[in-house]
Amino acid sequence: TPRVFSGIKPSGGLTLGNYLGAIKRFVGMQGQMETLYCVVDLHAITVWQDPVELRHATREVAAGYLAAGLDPAQSILFNQARVSQHAELGWIFNCVARVGWMNRMTQFKDKAGANAEQVSLGLYAYPSLMAADILLYHATHVPVGEDQKQHVELTRDIAAKFNHDYKVDFFPQTIPVIDGPATRVMNLRDGTKKMSKSGESDMERINMRDDADTIAKKFKKAKTDPAALPDTLDELRDRPEARNLIDIYAALSDATPEAVITEFAGAGWGRFKPALADLAVDRLAPISNEMTRLMDDPAEIDRILTDGADRARAIAAPILSRTAEIVGLLR
Ligand code: TYM
Repeated sequence: TPRVFSGIKPSGGLTLGNYLGAIKRFVGMQGQMETLYCVVDLHAITVWQDPVELRHATREVAAGYLAAGLDPAQSILFNQARVSQHAELGWIFNCVARVGWMNRMTQFKDKAGANAEQVSLGLYAYPSLMAADILLYHATHVPVGEDQKQHVELTRDIAAKFNHDYKVDFFPQTIPVIDGPATRVMNLRDGTKKMSKSGESDMERINMRDDADTIAKKFKKAKTDPAALPDTLDELRDRPEARNLIDIYAALSDATPEAVITEFAGAGWGRFKPALADLAVDRLAPISNEMTRLMDDPAEIDRILTDGADRARAIAAPILSRTAEIVGLLR
């Protein structure tokens, strides 16, 4: 049976990239299949997190899920640390995955940079814990942004090696679901880099909690080229910043980039950018306001996450037990 799993790290605030590349698409899959959406706090601590801020950020991602339309009656919403089976299966997968596979992970190379000797061992093993998140539920579909594709492919490799080594047909081959116009939202100041919560300047990203003025200012100052909007998408091939703004508009308005081009063909940025800002505010403000309301009652968020964890554990526990049995661990 099809089952969806995905997650977001509570490290800093949520960005428009997280919304369009993940949360909005999570909502779209709800009701179509069984869906589990996790706040991956164990992944967040692979780089230093202040404990007070981590608790806050964990609840805030949950608030973002709820405010955007994830419904605890239709989806299992929980945080990773409440289901200890994630860490346990993660360990088993550390013993299945090969060091050479980890060395090929581009996200690790980007994050570690020249500092690879000083990053945590957890950051290195990060993709193996991510494989555990997914396979602990035998999830078949994982909606993610483009940047997570390699990690989902590694999950497939881990499943295949486990099945092969233990001569079983136990873990499924998960499909990464990477669709729509916004699976790689780019940085507003440099269209060759992705928008991320950790980028150095706040001007390069839209945060889900930004107010209307800030959103308008950031789009107004977003880098573009002097040419007007073209008539065809093809003409945007070497114009990454222009392409990015059109893709964002398309994703926010549930249109195709082609339709956006048709609507704005020949328009200047002076017309397009305010329209984009209005659209973004129109879509984000209600979510942001609802997040603020939800964050006023952290006990209610904790209640939802605890209940979700109980339901997640009911699926995870038998799968972990069977895994341990296959491996030969006495429990
Ligand atoms: P994280 O927290 O970095 O990002 C959460 C989700 O948002 C997507 N995303 C983007 N999509 C489009 N454009 C962007 N600029 C952009 N920035 C972020 C990410 O692709 C992701 O889907 N390793 C994961 C979390 C994770 C996970 C999992 C995901 C842990 N276990 C199991 C799926 C399944 C991560 O760091 O995402």
